[in-house]
Amino acid sequence: MERVQKVISNLGYASRREAEELIKNGKVMINNDVANLGDKVKESDIIKVNGVVLDRNKNDKVYFLLNKPRGVVATVKDDKGRKTVVSLIDTDKRIYPIGRLDYDTTGVLLLTNDGELTNMLLHPSNNIEKVYLAKIKGIIKGSDIYKLKNGVMVDNYKTSPCYVKLKSYNKKTNTSMVEIRIHEGHNHQVKKMFESVGYEVLKLTRLRFAFLDCKDLKPGEYRVLTPKEVKKLYSLKG
Ligand code: URA
Repeated sequence: MERVQKVISNLGYASRREAEELIKNGKVMINNDVANLGDKVKESDIIKVNGVVLDRNKNDKVYFLLNKPRGVVATVKDDKGRKTVVSLIDTDKRIYPIGRLDYDTTGVLLLTNDGELTNMLLHPSNNIEKVYLAKIKGIIKGSDIYKLKNGVMVDNYKTSPCYVKLKSYNKKTNTSMVEIRIHEGHNHQVKKMFESVGYEVLKLTRLRFAFLDCKDLKPGEYRVLTPKEVKKLYSLKG
């Protein structure tokens, strides 16, 4: 049980003092009774301020790290009725993915209901590193790696300089495995970058988002981020 003014201010609707004023002025209701200063409320009590019901779960932020499998859309809903990443996670919170991965891309995907963290991580000024491993058609030339590293024209922008490394190649299958680390997050950016230098991406996986990888998770598996990890993500704000 907590004092109603404390609950109101903890939820960020008003300062403690403003909450007290609201109560004194009869603007706060607890389960349809006018609240008195110092009234205590339990989780299930419905609090209204100026006639509006407070969302008691507002501060219940959740954070998941999913190893996204292929064949799942990285959205909350899909027009075509395809399976979504959100449906893979057992929560009653309204979560959404932080950024996108294509339908056929696998790997690290964060999901949360924390809008502030989402905005922060997606904002280009914060330079969050995303590491991808691409299996491409063909044996990539050194000169093309050089071009990718320096930035290529994709749609109407030039990509920023980035780390690119040929990890292996297979002459028999005529494929190369290339690691690429980008700090931007344009739509289909990695595939378009390879396309711009003449290679088709056959498979794409995100190995890392910031400092988070999903080595311990099989495709489709997820885990909850630790409070320490969440704090560390917040600390990446530039
Ligand atoms: N770049 C792509 O092309 N696809 C992804 O899913 C992620 C980055």
